Amino acid sequence: MSGKNWDRVPIDAQSIDAPLSQAAIFLVVTVGSEQTALAKVAFVLEGLDDLVKTVGFRDLSGRLSCIAGIGRELWDRFHSDGRPKELKPFAAIKGAAHDAPSTPGDLLFHIRSERTDLCFEFERILLDNLGDSITVVDEVSGFRYFDARDLLGFVDGTANPTGLDLPASALVGEEDADFAGGSYVVVQKYLHDLGAWAKTPTPVQEEIIGRTKIDNIEIDDDDAPRKSHKSLATIEDADGNEYDILRDNMPFGRPGQQEFGTYFIGYSRYLWVIEKMLQRMYIGDPPGAYDRLLDFSTPHTGVTFFAPTRPMLQALVQADSGD
Ligand code: HEM
Repeated sequence: MSGKNWDRVPIDAQSIDAPLSQAAIFLVVTVGSEQTALAKVAFVLEGLDDLVKTVGFRDLSGRLSCIAGIGRELWDRFHSDGRPKELKPFAAIKGAAHDAPSTPGDLLFHIRSERTDLCFEFERILLDNLGDSITVVDEVSGFRYFDARDLLGFVDGTANPTGLDLPASALVGEEDADFAGGSYVVVQKYLHDLGAWAKTPTPVQEEIIGRTKIDNIEIDDDDAPRKSHKSLATIEDADGNEYDILRDNMPFGRPGQQEFGTYFIGYSRYLWVIEKMLQRMYIGDPPGAYDRLLDFSTPHTGVTFFAPTRPMLQALVQADSGD
């Protein structure tokens, strides 16, 4: 873990536990098929930690952090000895009423800071360094909305694991020892129909989410005819053990374009946990009783990555970076 000295030195690259922030950029790129493109990307990834320092040191209270996630295909292009057990492309889902598409992406950069300008500056230099070795396929600038609300008006992130539960839920452990400390990352860019949502009475919205809107209190819906988002996203095994993930969703939007969104990002020790959440949301539990949040929220992307630890990332890219 990166320790508790975030106010004294920049935050190490690949710190999954970096603090939640006021601003974030989610950047998804594909890497050119040429060997020179791969070498350039490897070189830039090798220097990622230095770039966080270069930009982040200019205002430590800005708490700049960056996590790079690597998709399955790109992972295999690096001359790696192995691959995280569960790493595979995002599996598209055809649901009862709504689908989750699988979209391209070799690399994710999850850039967070208290300051929009630090995120911007970091992304600017990063893309400058990557040059024409990559193509940007998606770029979203998110912002913290009041008390961590999504644009539907609900507080988002409350049930996140804390303390020792955080690494236990978000970081790979001894079950895949070569990749311990890394994390599976799944992203989906959702756009909301805020007009339809505004016409939905607040008590119905609360049933859909599973929490009250103003004061964020969890609603017990064990006996409700239809499960809420919160309950569909709760994963338990046969022994009643709960499997959490670490989320850092961010709102984004352009009111002038009628664009209102939530960028979903989940970090997990086990990819199957996020996949199971998605299955329950889209297929439903029981099948057909899908997550009604999807009647108002449409995913436009869906990509899976693995975020290695800093040393793991260095080792992965070194053979290809021309050093
Ligand atoms: C439009 C996209 C989404 C929105 C606006 C949204 C919003 C919310 C809100 C408001 C809560 C309740 C407060 C909290 O605990 O954070 C919640 C809980 C949760 N969501 Fe989502 N969510 C979205 C998509 C997803 C997706 C795609 C997943 C998983 C693949 C997911 C997983 C979870 C989990 C695990 C919880 C906590 C459940 C618990 O109480 O244990 N969410 N979400």
